[in-house]
This record gives sequence, C-alpha cells and structure tokens, in this order.
Amino acid sequence: MTATWFWTALGAVPCIAQDAGAPNPPIWTVPEVGALPDDKNGRLVRRGRDLITATYANIGPEVANPTKRYAGNNLACSNCHLEAGTKKFALPIFGLFGEFPQYSPRLRAEITIEDRVNACMTRSMNGRAMPLDAPEMQAIVAYIKFLSTGVPAGQKVPGLGAGKMPELDRAADPARGRLIYVRACVACHNTDGSGVRRSLPTVDLGYMTPPLWGSDSFNDGAGMARLIRLDRDYPDLLQKPVDSPYGPYADGFTQQQHKYGPFAPIRETVARLKAEAGGQKPDSQQ
Ligand code: HEC
Ligand code: HEC
Repeated sequence: MTATWFWTALGAVPCIAQDAGAPNPPIWTVPEVGALPDDKNGRLVRRGRDLITATYANIGPEVANPTKRYAGNNLACSNCHLEAGTKKFALPIFGLFGEFPQYSPRLRAEITIEDRVNACMTRSMNGRAMPLDAPEMQAIVAYIKFLSTGVPAGQKVPGLGAGKMPELDRAADPARGRLIYVRACVACHNTDGSGVRRSLPTVDLGYMTPPLWGSDSFNDGAGMARLIRLDRDYPDLLQKPVDSPYGPYADGFTQQQHKYGPFAPIRETVARLKAEAGGQKPDSQQ
C-alpha cells in the first residue's frame, strides 16, 4: 500500500471521452518548476513550491521568527495536496487558478484564491490568515498560478478534488474504523495516530507520515474532518452540508448523526424545511 491509498481508492483516473478527431491537447501537463529562469517570477514560484512542500519549516508554529508563524501545526500543504499539489484526485491545486474568484456557499460571497488559501491555512493548517501582501501568500499564489499555465480560465480540468466514495446508509462506526485503522493505517501513521517525525524530538524536518488527529493536525472546520466531502459558518444553516461535524444545525438532528450519518434522513428534513422556507430546490451537492 502506498501513501496515496486514500485518493486512488476514492477515484480511479477516468477515461476522458473525446470527440473523435478533436485536437484536444492533454491538459494535465504539469509545468516544470525547475525549468523557470532565475528571475523574480521564477524565484517567487520556487518559493511558493517550497512553502507548499515544507510549510512547517517556513511558516510553521516553531519557526524562529514569530511573525512568520502562520500555520498552527507542523503539516505541509502537500501532506494533503499530494506531489506539491500536482497529483490527480489527490486534492490537486493544479489548473484551477482560472476558477477564482468563485462563489462560496459558506460565506455567501465570491472568494479569491487568497481567501481559499487562507481557508486551508486557518482550518487544515489550524493557523491564522496570511495578509494578502505577505511575501509567503504572494509566493503560494504565484505557484498556484504557474500550475495553471496553459489551462484556459473556465476549463474544468478532470481529476480535481479527491473523487467520491459511495455513501453509507448507516452511521459511520468508529469501532469498525478502528479495526481498519489497525489493519491499514497504523504501520505508517503510528499506533496513536500521531504520525512519525523525520527529526526527533523536534519537528524541523516535518513528518515522514503526518498525524491524523491531535494538536499537530487540522481542526474540525477542515475539509479532512468531513465524512462525505472533503471541503467548505453558513449564514443560512439549511445550506450547510449534512456532514458538517460542527453545529449549529437548523434541522434538529444531533451533532453525532451529522458527524457519522446516516445522512439520508437529514437530507430529507433539510429538503422539506427548504421547501417550507420558500420553495427552494434541494441542493443535490450536499
Ligand atoms: C489536512 C489536509 C489539508 C492541508 C494540510 C491543506 N489542505 Fe488545502 N484543501 C484540503 C481539502 C480537503 C480541500 C477541499 C478540496 C475540495 O473541495 O474538493 C482543500 C482545498 C484547497 C484549495 C482549493 C482547491 C479546489 O479544488 O478548489 C486550495 C487552493 C488549497 N486547498 C490550498 C492549500 C494550501 C496553500 C495549503 C497549505 C498552506 C493547504 N491547502 C493545506 C485539505 C488540506
Ligand atoms: C504506506 C504508508 C501509509 C499508509 C499505510 C497510510 N498512510 Fe496516510 N499518509 C501517508 C503519507 C506519507 C502521507 C503524506 C503524503 C505526503 O506528504 O506526500 C499521508 C497522508 C494522509 C492524510 C492527509 C494528511 C493528514 O495528516 O491528515 C490522511 C487523512 C491519511 N494519510 C489517512 C490515512 C488512513 C486513514 C490510512 C489507512 C486507511 C492511511 N492514511 C494509510 C502514509 C500512509
């Protein structure tokens, strides 16, 4: 088993149906950072890549300069966005620069790429938002922009996200999860889920395998903490995804059920409440 079990298990790389003879160029062509000239932009993009792959060493909670301690844990962005964000169905940050600004149902407003980066910074990295003019923010955005080289705005690249698992019609069962953890995860992620550091007792070199929970992990606002969809407080609580692991909720179901399911009964109630509230169409995305 490899480190990419999670994402590859969720979604096999699909065959992309193309019109016969259509001269569609392959668009998952990751541009080579090392080929950039050693100029201002080249250095910025390289710095951005380093910030993604060694976040802990540059803006982690233990770096020497306290003003640079943006992240609250010693993860790297690339612990979740595999291969520096270039791997299909491994939460890539490739080819999506042109999709921003985009509408966020969580905030009910357009969000910029900087807002999206800060969303991961505050939840997945359990840290604080970087100012827009912070050199680190500019470098990360330059890298994300570089990864979209040649992908036209509006072009939806197949392979984004993490793929989908069939949904359970019962509550997820932590006791069964524990058995699977012991069988399939413990060897790498440690007996207590705290991961394995590269350097002991410090975390200067980050993790060989990252922690899955605890103080050096993401918080419960993070996409990783959700059962159905890895991602996005909702001013309209009825818009809140059914698997949000934190309240408040408008539907009367317990936090326990929102966390572990089953989700179908919640969805039905939410659809009814939405209809009562003004004939809105139920949101199939949830
Ligand atoms: C603990 C795992 C984790 C870490 C660490 C993490 N992210 Fe994310 N990130 C996610 C998840 C989950 C999503 C939601 C993907 C989706 O919507 O399908 C996401 C989404 C994103 C997106 C939007 C992608 C899209 O498909 O729209 C960007 C950009 C992003 N993250 C950047 C970062 C950056 C930069 C860092 C480091 C500062 C970071 N992330 C750290 C889990 C993580
Ligand atoms: C062969 C070793 C290995 C096994 C087995 C493994 N992982 Fe991982 N996992 C990794 C590595 C390494 C990373 C970080 C990837 C990177 O940085 O490129 C990771 C990343 C993750 C992440 C995202 C980062 C974080 O810390 O939250 C999650 C969640 C995760 N693994 C869960 C699991 C679960 C659940 C299992 C068992 C079903 C499992 N892994 C099995 C090695 C492994």
